[in-house]
Amino acid sequence: MTVDSRPRYAHLTGWGRYAPAGILTNADLERMVDTSDEWIVSRTGIRERRVAAAHETTASMAAVAALRAIAVAGIDAADIDLILLGTLTPDYWMPATAALVKEAIGNTKATAMDLAAACSGFVYGYATAQAYITSGMAKHVLVIGAELLTRFLDYTDRNTCILFGDGAGAVVLSASDEPGGGLGIELTTEPQGAYMIWLPSGGSKSPPSAATIARGEHYIRMEGRETYRFATRTLATTALAAIEHAGLEPDDISLIIPHQANIRIIEAVAKGLDLSMDRMFVNVDRYGNTSAASIPIALAEAANSGRIKVGDRIVIVAFGAGFTSGAVAIEWTVDPARGALGEAISPDSVHVRPPLDWDSVDPIPDALAEILARPGPLPLDLSDVVPGEPEPAARPVASPALQR
Ligand code: ACO
Repeated sequence: MTVDSRPRYAHLTGWGRYAPAGILTNADLERMVDTSDEWIVSRTGIRERRVAAAHETTASMAAVAALRAIAVAGIDAADIDLILLGTLTPDYWMPATAALVKEAIGNTKATAMDLAAACSGFVYGYATAQAYITSGMAKHVLVIGAELLTRFLDYTDRNTCILFGDGAGAVVLSASDEPGGGLGIELTTEPQGAYMIWLPSGGSKSPPSAATIARGEHYIRMEGRETYRFATRTLATTALAAIEHAGLEPDDISLIIPHQANIRIIEAVAKGLDLSMDRMFVNVDRYGNTSAASIPIALAEAANSGRIKVGDRIVIVAFGAGFTSGAVAIEWTVDPARGALGEAISPDSVHVRPPLDWDSVDPIPDALAEILARPGPLPLDLSDVVPGEPEPAARPVASPALQR
């Protein structure tokens, strides 16, 4: 990687998402644990979440979202010079999942690394990408959030298994001399919350063994109330700090895209910023909490559904295990109609190379096997299609921010 010292701005030029076709509803969960649709909806706002199929991995979902974002940005995958992938559910402990994604998208020159900041992983990645671009160390950075959480949940623990789902989202940030893009950034880490959301075993403190499996220590554990308190305390202040760093006020922000963990937490952010709920983007009802994938999925949906236009100032804001939190205030500079270009990428065209002489055990948790075996409502995943898209959306204009 060479250093180019020109001053630059980091524009958001591409976005894409991938949601696996399998759906786990609250009614399904009612059959697994002592819960109810009414409890889940009233306490969290979640109605259903996506579940990856046996052939899918964090890398495969990430690669689809990445190729969609690259198509929207109007560049070749080969142009990407840095890949940052936020995840807490990598394909393997090593190599980095970002390295598998690099190969799957057909890139040969990028530096590729994973970033561990739990649900804040995408925002931390975005901030890191911005730093690389504005320092002249990169021109086009792919930032991905991808998670396959349903394989790390205890489907006898009603406190956690109702909350999480699978998916991936990605953006391309591109260098430009024109002002715009990321304007203000705030990142925080509060380690006193380190054991409020954690996965006890599998690391060097407690390597995998028959005993750790018997003790159920390879599943996510969470102190829900403490996490809720942290989130409601921190999200609004983190967003506000990013807005202030940008020299703006909350009322200048047309859309907040918060981490999709719980509708009550999102309502608390709106209240904390004194903004109405129509300025908050919400899709937690359809995906649950997809951790690092939640914001880039929401961002792509917001852009593709007409919620963002050129010149808008938006804020992405997340919190997660660590405790981490982060926010970026962004000036949107690219025609949102370019989102249609991502839809041409089919998940079937993406291939992550498997190891030569090894295959995994069946990765699907027993509790989900029956749900995944049932026929889906449609043979094709049409979830990226924007209903009623106006005709001009099919003819996107060139991205003004893009510099090859
Ligand atoms: N169905 C029915 N009852 C339940 C369920 C369930 N699925 N889960 C818990 N309960 C019960 C509890 O056992 C408790 O019963 P009790 O009063 O008899 O003890 C009661 O419901 C209330 O439990 P609370 O934990 O107080 O419920 P709360 O209103 O706090 O909602 C929730 C729980 C939804 C988990 C909430 O605390 C929350 O959203 N916390 C934040 C979680 C989060 O966002 N985590 C992601 C972090 S991001 C990352 O990095 C992974």
